[in-house]
Amino acid sequence: MAKKTSDPASLKLETRLAVAGRNPERFDGAVNPPVHRATTLVIPDAGDLYDTPKKTYALEGMAIHEALREALIGVEGGAGATLAPSGLGACTLAMLTVAKAGGEFLVTDSVYGPTRRFCETMLKRIGVKTRYFDPRIGADIADMLAPNTCGVFLESPGSLTFEIQDVPAIAAAARARNVPVLLDNTWSAGVYFKPFDHGVDLSIQALTKYQMGHADAFMGAVISSTAEWEARVRTAYKQLGLGVGPDDAYLVLRGMRTMAVRLESQARSALAIAQWLEAQPQVIRALHPALPSHPDHTLWKRDFKGASACFGFVLKPTTPARLKAMLESYSLFSMGFSWGGFESLVVPCDENVHRTVTPWQAEGPLIRLSIGLEHVDDLTADLAQGLSHLGE
Ligand SMILES: Cc1ncc(COP(=O)(O)O)c(C=O)c1O
Repeated sequence: MAKKTSDPASLKLETRLAVAGRNPERFDGAVNPPVHRATTLVIPDAGDLYDTPKKTYALEGMAIHEALREALIGVEGGAGATLAPSGLGACTLAMLTVAKAGGEFLVTDSVYGPTRRFCETMLKRIGVKTRYFDPRIGADIADMLAPNTCGVFLESPGSLTFEIQDVPAIAAAARARNVPVLLDNTWSAGVYFKPFDHGVDLSIQALTKYQMGHADAFMGAVISSTAEWEARVRTAYKQLGLGVGPDDAYLVLRGMRTMAVRLESQARSALAIAQWLEAQPQVIRALHPALPSHPDHTLWKRDFKGASACFGFVLKPTTPARLKAMLESYSLFSMGFSWGGFESLVVPCDENVHRTVTPWQAEGPLIRLSIGLEHVDDLTADLAQGLSHLGE
């Protein structure tokens, strides 16, 4: 931290992001922690080689990793954060921390596709089953919990279809049966949804999105509610031999310094664009939880402090040729699969929505937008010219 301050938890988000992990006295006055490109750590004292609390190998993380972990806890709370090489890597690390042969995960049907793929391939191969549930199941999850349930995996909202889950109700039912609750909390960036106030045990962030913010490096994190959970995640991380490079850790921490202001601007534009889209004749509905028309708006209002800048909309039925013409006509929106960066993105989603218990039913094509830092008027004009390719 820059200077001795009062309790960091008492500071506002912007301030916490500005001061997290800074320790100039330790680093010759440098504002930012250094990047150590290290593997071997030399240990002068033979007594420090084994059974020591000191760092003995750089895979455990150096100063820049420590600073980043501090920043992540500064945003979301919790007792510890473990970094992973990607957001997907953080999802699988959290699952492997609690997985047991013969066990079963309960996973929201709206889960990120590659997380589902992990369940259907590697977890299945090692004898861990998955059952999917309706993202709007709420307290009725109690009926699905079984003696072999090893974890409940949530993602709220789903990053393609944007259902908000009743996390407190699901977590209460799971806790009553001593089942851990894992939440992919990437959409909120940890800023708009406080997982540990709602009964979550492990919160997952794809840091590739809002924290990194500049579409130039991958990373993920598992943030733990308690020290016991942190120890379990760290053990799994060590057993799997995971690590993240110091340069990437530096980039994420640098991104986080400006995350609050980026998010605020991008979120404001996103809501304005969602409202505008709702009024367009070619659009059936926007899927943005902060809109009163969203089916889970009341839940969102109860549990979230804001909405980020990724949302969807459903078009009136159109021909594939017209849809293609719209998607290829944009000058500011690019087609791409990520979100959360400074640049606006658009992607048609129907081919990507894989559901097994709650089929996705929409009247027309589902489109996802990630709103960046471009001016909202320019983005709206780009979307308007895109819609004109559909006719009315
Ligand atoms: C909800 C969600 N979780 C996790 C990930 C994975 O992040 P990464 O691309 O860093 O693996 C993504 C990526 O799009 C995502 O949308």
